[in-house]
Amino acid sequence: MTAVGIDAIEIWTGKLQLDLPGTFAPAKGEDPGKYTKGLGLETSSFPDAYEDIVTMGANAAKRLMDRKDLDPQDIGRIDVATESAFDNSKPVSTYIAGCLEQVYDGDFHHANKGERKFACVAGTQSIDDAYNWIKAGRNRGRAALVIATDTALYARGDPGEATQGAGAVAMLIDEDPSVVELSTEQGYGSADETDFLKPNQQFPSVDGKRSMQVYLARMREALEDFESVAWDTHPDDFAYIPFHTPFPGMVRKAGLLGYRHMIRDTEIEDALEGRIGRQPREEDFDDWEAYEEAIRAYMDDLKETEEYQSWYADTIDPTLNISRRVGNWYTGSVHIARVSALRHAAANDVDLQGQKLLVASYGSGAQAEIHAETVADGWKEEIEAADLEDQLQRRYDLSYDEYEQVHDRHNHDMDVELEEFTQPDGEFVFTGWGRMSERK
Ligand code: HMG
Repeated sequence: MTAVGIDAIEIWTGKLQLDLPGTFAPAKGEDPGKYTKGLGLETSSFPDAYEDIVTMGANAAKRLMDRKDLDPQDIGRIDVATESAFDNSKPVSTYIAGCLEQVYDGDFHHANKGERKFACVAGTQSIDDAYNWIKAGRNRGRAALVIATDTALYARGDPGEATQGAGAVAMLIDEDPSVVELSTEQGYGSADETDFLKPNQQFPSVDGKRSMQVYLARMREALEDFESVAWDTHPDDFAYIPFHTPFPGMVRKAGLLGYRHMIRDTEIEDALEGRIGRQPREEDFDDWEAYEEAIRAYMDDLKETEEYQSWYADTIDPTLNISRRVGNWYTGSVHIARVSALRHAAANDVDLQGQKLLVASYGSGAQAEIHAETVADGWKEEIEAADLEDQLQRRYDLSYDEYEQVHDRHNHDMDVELEEFTQPDGEFVFTGWGRMSERK
């Protein structure tokens, strides 16, 4: 059976940054610790005046195609995952293909183009579509380009404002992949939910606290479904577990949930000895509140154990390094968590080839998807070749006033005159709604 998976990854971050403890917290009159310790964030990325989801996606894709020496004939499918689309008819992939055709010989007329939407989980769904297309033998030797691109904005004053971010992740899905091989081990948790939605509106209507519960509930279902195809999973089976990361504090909770779930038949019994002797169940208690209280107490104890803390430090914490510096990229978020883990492994000379990752994606609305993948033999070269650190370092540091202008402008308010804080550097730039972006 031919291996299919991610062959290359490139990232494009919005070229501006907002310092959360240094700029945002003082302007809001908040303790910086809420952002750094509570949410786990340092800075957020924002697009400059000449950037949008098309330019960020096209720039990431161009970097990937150049590095892999590809031309349009090598690509049979372009799928864009986004929840920031501005066109209800044409998919964003057509705009991105239009950009790329300006710089490569040949065109993408032969390529199937689409746009995937299910909040943040759509990036992973697009990878699944590409995997199925190749596995079905319909690709005729061509690879698929999957681009997750979003500008994640909340209304000013909304509690979600601190978690904003903007950027794109381009991924090449191909046979004999260099980064990770995908598998059929997969599980879902999916239900109609209304805690986060944007019906004909730019900013989400969001019930932040409930959205965290919904995330955890769907994640638990997806884990249970995953275990129906991948038996007896244990937390130590996986080198890293990249989660969808709206902010690192969310992943602290999700990591604990995943750990508890995977150790339930052994360590939990030991841990609870002296209390009720096994993992608490609802029927052990007189009422739901008492049950919830026992679970909370159990989780608090579990969180403090040395085993858990060392597992978290090795398996989860390295997935959060980029997210801390860029905020929520919606569809790209879980994919930057994967990159973050691989970069950490490369920097620390970890021998990852053949090891497994458990990738936990999530999208509001709501659906969690959990799958296992195996690290391939070219992972280190690929990850080291992908350009990121420079981009992060070069971002322009916004003052609070400048941040407010950027926020207004990217709320599709074209009357806001926004200066460009950075200069385009041989990249695609935004030239107006419905028009193709140009290279400048
Ligand atoms: P909030 O209510 O302003 O914050 O917003 P808070 O008061 O709950 O504080 C956050 C954490 O900081 C808490 O930690 C505090 O204790 C702590 P926790 O108890 O949760 O562990 N804290 C401090 N720590 C240290 N020093 C301090 C301090 N002060 C407080 N001084 C909220 C939080 C998540 C509600 C908000 O950011 C929000 O609404 N975010 C947007 C929604 C979101 O991200 N939800 C996540 C799950 S849904 C999802 O992931 C999908 C999504 O990506 C969209 C999609 O799929 O398309 C969002």
